[in-house]
Amino acid sequence: MGGHDMTLARLTDLLAAADRAGGALGAFNVFSIEHAEALVAGAEKAGAPVVLQISQNAVRYHGALAPIGLATLAIGRATGVEVVVHLDHCTQEELVAEAVELGFGSVMFDASALSYADNVAATARVVQYCHARGVEVEAELGEVGGKDGVHAPGARTRPTEAAEFATATGVDALAVAVGSSHAMTERSALLDLDRIADLHAAVPVPLVLHGSSGVPDEEIVRAVRAGMRKINIATHLNKVFTDVVRSLLAADPALVDTRKYLGPARDAVAEEVARLLGLLAGAGGNGPVTGSR
Ligand code: G3H
Ligand code: ZN
Repeated sequence: MGGHDMTLARLTDLLAAADRAGGALGAFNVFSIEHAEALVAGAEKAGAPVVLQISQNAVRYHGALAPIGLATLAIGRATGVEVVVHLDHCTQEELVAEAVELGFGSVMFDASALSYADNVAATARVVQYCHARGVEVEAELGEVGGKDGVHAPGARTRPTEAAEFATATGVDALAVAVGSSHAMTERSALLDLDRIADLHAAVPVPLVLHGSSGVPDEEIVRAVRAGMRKINIATHLNKVFTDVVRSLLAADPALVDTRKYLGPARDAVAEEVARLLGLLAGAGGNGPVTGSR
């Protein structure tokens, strides 16, 4: 792992490269150090860039951002692939400031639960703060539901409003509601592909798909072809991780060494990340999946 320049990548650079290739950037959530290791191992295997993102909820779980954040930054710096370390779904401006201080390259400030005017005002403030410090910002317009565990595919972001929002706030990327929902454990969601294409045509910054765990592979490819440039996946990889842990513990009641089940779980996540990054990179090509269903 030695010999690398220890610098992290910029989100906008990777999004621009994905756009040129007609593919999308994979963004995966870090809950424990094993996840960060797995995501980078998967990216190395795929030879692709990756976004390691830590959500405000994960910070709450750990009780602090610094320990998991600094570990993730160290893992991201110690690899030859391009890595962005990103704060995900943050509603607290103090936590944004802490991430900036620690060296995160970008943050997602999520004021999507607020009114349009309040979302614009809060997001613009965060953009001004972050850009002054060389940090990039993703925001959300139109609430992607499901964080309460209930599949809520109904919300839609309006293209004209999204374009206006991007211009008014100066954000670098925009998460939009197009039919996905957070925390699905079945991959069965269908997206509003026409809406994605309309948003892609109207909005001047790259689009982000949240709640992609519930979206099947072929539908993710269609979403990328319609213009999605950052694909956020968390629950699906947790499922891969936990399936391995569950089966190893069930198979051996005498097993106590945490490394004996977390290690194989980490390996399984790395494999799946490599596969997903390959899917996203190739999404722009002329594979068997066409733009329409
Ligand atoms: O911000 C993170 C993603 O939107 C993850 O959602 O757990 O449904 O894949 P997911
Ligand atoms: Zn999300």
